[in-house]
Amino acid sequence: MAGNFADTMTAVKPSYPLLTSRLILRPFESGDLDDLLAYMSPPEVSRYLYTEPLADRAAAKENLGRKMGAIQAENEGDAIFLAVYLPEAERVIGDVMFYYTSRGHRQGEIGFVFHPEFQGRGFATEAARVVLEIGFQGLQLHRMVARCDARNLASARVMERLGMTREAHLVENEFVKGEWTDEFVYAIRRGEWEASAQPVMA
Ligand SMILES: CC(C)(COP(=O)(O)OP(=O)(O)OC[C@H]1O[C@@H](n2cnc3c(N)ncnc32)[C@H](O)[C@@H]1OP(=O)(O)O)[C@@H](O)C(=O)NCCC(=O)NCCS
Repeated sequence: MAGNFADTMTAVKPSYPLLTSRLILRPFESGDLDDLLAYMSPPEVSRYLYTEPLADRAAAKENLGRKMGAIQAENEGDAIFLAVYLPEAERVIGDVMFYYTSRGHRQGEIGFVFHPEFQGRGFATEAARVVLEIGFQGLQLHRMVARCDARNLASARVMERLGMTREAHLVENEFVKGEWTDEFVYAIRRGEWEASAQPVMA
């Protein structure tokens, strides 16, 4: 694990690819366009996201372009998007996100999106554990959060499997896709992560 991060405590550029027992996490490549479109176009995937389903390859190209450049976290506001490649399927099945929310307060945020065909097998949890390692090991963060629509129970379950605690149920705090929505805020602090986390990287 120690070799995975060229860390300076306030900036992190992981040494890609990052390997778990079943997955390869790496920066997005131009050849990932069709895989990205496949998991970002089903309506059920974006049901509880702020974004709409990707309509076509042009939209996927724009989305891919933004994700391709997001590979390190140096400054507050930086994001890392990692393609989650499943060797047994020979395709990218989803992505995980790290967002460097505060340098001064040592805080970060995580997110995840997976293809419906590849849900229910623990891949999101396995990949998200890597993102927690990026934050806690690479950046030495103090606390990481994840947020989801309160109806997004699959997402909330992932956060709980990660050892995160539901700290807030915000009631109708956002107006998303034409309706007032509730939001769950989950968090895990560094000490909790150190006490419970099993190494996830091969
Ligand atoms: C949120 C999302 C990533 C969760 O995906 P998921 O496949 O349910 O999550 P995991 O990969 O952790 O899989 C967990 C499920 O696999 C099962 N599972 C099977 N093998 C497993 C294993 N080896 N390890 C862990 N879980 C395993 C678990 O029992 C669990 O099923 P359950 O929820 O019915 O109890 C997915 O629903 C999604 O992409 N949704 C659309 C995008 C979205 O809303 N993202 C979140 C925005 S906040």
